[in-house]
Amino acid sequence: MSDPDTETSVAGAPAPRGALDISIEFSLNGEKQNCRIDSNAVLLDVLRENLGCRGVRGSCERGVCGACTVLVDDVPVASCSTFAFAVDGASVETVEGLAAADGTLSPQQRAFAECGGYQCGFCTSGMLMLTTGLLRREPRPDRGTIRDWISSNTCRCTGYEMIMESVERAAELTAAQDGDRV
Ligand code: FES
Ligand code: FES
Repeated sequence: MSDPDTETSVAGAPAPRGALDISIEFSLNGEKQNCRIDSNAVLLDVLRENLGCRGVRGSCERGVCGACTVLVDDVPVASCSTFAFAVDGASVETVEGLAAADGTLSPQQRAFAECGGYQCGFCTSGMLMLTTGLLRREPRPDRGTIRDWISSNTCRCTGYEMIMESVERAAELTAAQDGDRV
């Protein structure tokens, strides 16, 4: 059940014919959100336009390039090709949630900076979220596994070598961080 006082609405173009005005509730980077949305709104638009997550990029908007990747219940998904109603009750994570509240970068962010994985700055948020999802499923992925996962996200300006190295380094830094917590 959503709280009308905290609901936000999708701004912009009129709802296409047949769209219903619905309420959804989900966790965004650990915080509860209530939104009123058009039933056919995609997650990318709700995250960027309603909820201010401008780090989530749209490019092809056809589920091909991976720039819009976010995590839904730990699984990387293309937010441009996911209906927003599908995340009702789920946990959604975007690049805005990676760094700690005091600004300390996550292991993935540090690894991409160390290894040159940040290049154009456009595909990077999707690559970071893909890496986060991969390392949750496979904390020490081999090169073939990294290649398979990274192949879902397009980089138009370079080879993938530094991104591959960034993912490997992120695995090391994540393991070290998790070890520190034990
Ligand atoms: S913008 Fe979503 S896959 Fe390209
Ligand atoms: S580094 Fe982003 S598209 Fe190549």
